[in-house]
Amino acid sequence: MEKKYDPNKRHIIISGGSKGLGYSLCQSLLEDKNYPGYFISTFSRTKTAEMDELLQRYPDSFYYAELDIHDGKALIDYVEEACKRSSNLYGLINNAAIVQAGVLATLPEVEIMKMLEVNVTSALMLTRLFLRKMLQEEGKGRIVNISSICGLRGYSGLAVYSATKAALDGFTRGLARELGSRGITVNSVAPGYMRTDLSASLSDEQLEQIKRRTPLGRLAEGIDIVPLVRFLLSEEASFITSQTIVVDGGISN
Ligand SMILES: NC(=O)c1ccc[n+]([C@@H]2O[C@H](COP(=O)([O-])OP(=O)(O)OC[C@H]3O[C@@H](n4cnc5c(N)ncnc54)[C@H](OP(=O)(O)O)[C@@H]3O)[C@@H](O)[C@H]2O)c1
Repeated sequence: MEKKYDPNKRHIIISGGSKGLGYSLCQSLLEDKNYPGYFISTFSRTKTAEMDELLQRYPDSFYYAELDIHDGKALIDYVEEACKRSSNLYGLINNAAIVQAGVLATLPEVEIMKMLEVNVTSALMLTRLFLRKMLQEEGKGRIVNISSICGLRGYSGLAVYSATKAALDGFTRGLARELGSRGITVNSVAPGYMRTDLSASLSDEQLEQIKRRTPLGRLAEGIDIVPLVRFLLSEEASFITSQTIVVDGGISN
C-alpha cells in the first residue's frame, strides 16, 4: 500500500536536484517552516550523498529516484510514482541541464543533440506530464524554468547551450499564455555564472574575467538564485507570469 504524506503540503517536482542549484532549491524548500510547506520530488542520473541525507532528514516530504530525463518511459513512471507519494501537485522547476562547451564548427553532432534533448525536449516532455496531472487539480500552480543569461546574451563556445536556454525562454512565454486562465504562472529565471559541475570546464582565468566584468564583483551562488525561485512559487507572485528574470550581479547589461 502506497503511503500518502501530508496532503496539504505543496508538491513541487524539481528536475536535477542532486547537486548544484537543484540541490540548493530542494534543501531550501524542504526547510520552509511556513504552513503548509513543501513536498519535494526530484531525480538525477546519479544519486549523491546529499540525496541520502535529505531522504533521511525528510522521510515524509522528500522523494528521490535515479533516472535519465531523456528516458521517456522512466519519466512517465517517475511522475506517476511522485504523484502517489503526494497528491497536492503544485509546481515544477525545470532545472536539469547539461553543457558541452566548444565552437559550433567542431562540436560533435552527438553533443549538440544531447544538449537539445536534455535541455529542451526533455524539459518540454516533463512539463507535459506535469500538466496532465496538474490540470486535474482545481488549484493554481507554478512552473519555473531555469534558464541562463546565455539565452539572452552571446558567449563564444556556448552557442548551442545558449540556443537551448533561449528555447526555454520562448517556451515560458508561450506556455504562460496557454495556462494563464488556469491560474498557473510560468516564468524563467536566468542566473549568471555559478561555480558548479556544469561550469567546471571554465578555467580559473575565465572565472576571474567573469568576476571582473560583473558590477557586483563575484560569481553567482545558489543562495542568490533560490530566493527568487521561492518568491515565484509563492502566493505573492500570482500576477507574475511569462517573464525571464535575470539574477547575475549585472554582468549581462
Ligand atoms: N552553473 C552555472 O554557471 C549556470 C549559469 C546559468 C544557468 N545555469 C542553469 O542552472 C541549472 C542548474 O545548473 P547547475 O549549475 O546546478 O548544474 P549541475 O550542478 O551540473 O546540476 C545539474 C543537475 O541536473 C542533473 N541532470 C543533468 N543531466 C540529467 C539527465 N540527463 N537526467 C537527469 N538529470 C540530469 C544532474 O545530475 P546527474 O548529472 O547525476 O544526472 C544535476 O542534478 C541548469 O539549468 C543550468 O543551465 C547554470
